Amino acid sequence: MERIKTGVYGLDEIINGGFPKESITLVSGPPGSGKSIFAYQFINRGLKEGERCLLISLDRKERKILMQAEEMNFAFKNAVEEGKLRIFYVDVNKRYIYEEIIREITSGAYDRIVIDPITPLAETPFYVKDITLSDDINFIDAEDFSIMNEDIPLKRLHLRYIMDAIESTGCTAVITSEASFDSSGASRDTISEFLADGVIFLNFDPAMDRRKLTVLKMRNTRHTLKTQNIVINNDGIQLMK
Ligand SMILES: Nc1ncnc2c1ncn2[C@@H]1O[C@H](COP(=O)(O)OP(=O)(O)OP(=O)(O)O)[C@@H](O)[C@H]1O
Ligand SMILES: [Mg+2]
Repeated sequence: MERIKTGVYGLDEIINGGFPKESITLVSGPPGSGKSIFAYQFINRGLKEGERCLLISLDRKERKILMQAEEMNFAFKNAVEEGKLRIFYVDVNKRYIYEEIIREITSGAYDRIVIDPITPLAETPFYVKDITLSDDINFIDAEDFSIMNEDIPLKRLHLRYIMDAIESTGCTAVITSEASFDSSGASRDTISEFLADGVIFLNFDPAMDRRKLTVLKMRNTRHTLKTQNIVINNDGIQLMK
């Protein structure tokens, strides 16, 4: 099976050389655990390989992302200018963000896609218009509707459609998801980890001043379940030996 380098130092070695090609990996963790940095490293690695990348951000605007990338010496700005990287900020307060996201995912021939984070999509009400963008994706033929009603199957449906859209493009994806400190890996929406091919949990232990990474799931991959100590510095996340 073809493997895609993650860009996170030391991670490829414990997952048979990288993410399986065309897989979707959920990176979940509490605030400040390194989810965005992980996602940016994944993009940066893709850019180094000459791949086309899409970064869909639901919490930070392009300017902030470019600022952080610059600090980490990731050449995002050049890549955007050269058309190798598209950064798409989604305002969750807008209607029809769901179509916008699907359109972005399916409109370019991307090798890597990041959604950072997916959590607001499972938690804020949004609306679906009856549109068809691709034969591979079955859209809900529906009136406008809201997912505010805590209806789990409906939430699952939306996340499923986004993941289906990603799968239809043949890219390899990283999706970040917010989790609580004591969740031992479950994302707040409690659904995306079941839909993803892989789940990586980031966490920290303030008492010990330690950061941690655990590979909880990775389809087609033999991997350890042992929690790894990590450090974050200017280059990004690195697994400690
Ligand atoms: N250059 C750096 N050197 C060392 N640590 C850093 C550096 N940059 C960021 N960090 C650490 O990484 C943390 C932020 O990581 P990141 O933004 O990836 O978290 P996150 O999981 O995406 O958080 P959120 O859920 O709030 O978006 C900071 O709180 C800081 O502790
Ligand atoms: Mg983040």
